[in-house]
Amino acid sequence: MSMPESTEVLTLCVSDAGMLTADVRQLRLRPDIAGQTLPAFTAGAHISLAVRLADGKIDWREYSLVALDETSATHPAEYRIAVRKESPGRGGSQFVHEQIRPSDVLQVRAPRNQFPMEASHDRAVLIAGGIGVTPIASMAAHCKHIGRPVSVYYAGRSRSSMAYIDELEALLGDDLHLHADDEAGKPLDLNAIFASLGANDHIYFCGPVPMIDAILALAEKQGWPRNQVHFELFNAPVAEEGDQAFEVELAQSGKTLVVPADKSILDVLIEDGFDPLYDCKRGECGVCACDVLSGEIDHRDYILTAREKEAGNIMHTCVSRAKGKKLVLDM
Ligand code: FES
Repeated sequence: MSMPESTEVLTLCVSDAGMLTADVRQLRLRPDIAGQTLPAFTAGAHISLAVRLADGKIDWREYSLVALDETSATHPAEYRIAVRKESPGRGGSQFVHEQIRPSDVLQVRAPRNQFPMEASHDRAVLIAGGIGVTPIASMAAHCKHIGRPVSVYYAGRSRSSMAYIDELEALLGDDLHLHADDEAGKPLDLNAIFASLGANDHIYFCGPVPMIDAILALAEKQGWPRNQVHFELFNAPVAEEGDQAFEVELAQSGKTLVVPADKSILDVLIEDGFDPLYDCKRGECGVCACDVLSGEIDHRDYILTAREKEAGNIMHTCVSRAKGKKLVLDM
């Protein structure tokens, strides 16, 4: 697997597992060997957990670490994650919900942070959608610890579906703004949040794709500098309605592969024995970029500029697809 991932694999024991809401399960993971210490992490970091899928294959899933006080991150006695059951999903959350039991021993890649907070004391405006609250909660705790002004907007379908409300209320007081769709009768008002922003504020957000897209569109429309806008997708991209199978011809190897409607080019390459570079699998990091020699690209990444997308000669194989029946890639 060509993942530029921390190679440190930890063997951790499930010290506690329990439901936080009807579909969110929390795991607490401790070293399997007495006296062993856990690597520290910073707010926004995740671990990768080895999960067994329905076909028996082992894969890795990333879950943000929850630290509601600074010591839990700088000197962790345990790692805490919360996983929402996705259905249909790709199998990782089913494994966490249905297979993992207290005292089980799990393989975990050490924490890594692809969603770090920049060093600043300007106000941080944190927006969480659903289970996207996990990195946001750690960021809120870090801001409180260093005395950084922070406002947290946390939205979900209903209060009963939203994890960590009590802890966040205790941590944040009036700096927490909860939004439950069923009480408000409408989605979170992003325009109102943007209207309240100061010029030096930094925005951090994590949640489902429609929320990310809406915030990015607003930030772009209002001319927010990219270095003040930080986000992490919670879900791996799923197939969109109308997605079709297509072919990819690999110019260097002369091979042609079929990419089904419900799989990415990257996954098809890996399944066929190629060893492509990748990291996030969400169209955020740019590691899987590939030159395209012909064919029209359906760009779905968050990296290329509008001009680069229009040029049509580079794509990110973890998320982007073909608009037509075939792409020719320079690999
Ligand atoms: S693996 Fe990160 S953009 Fe494709």
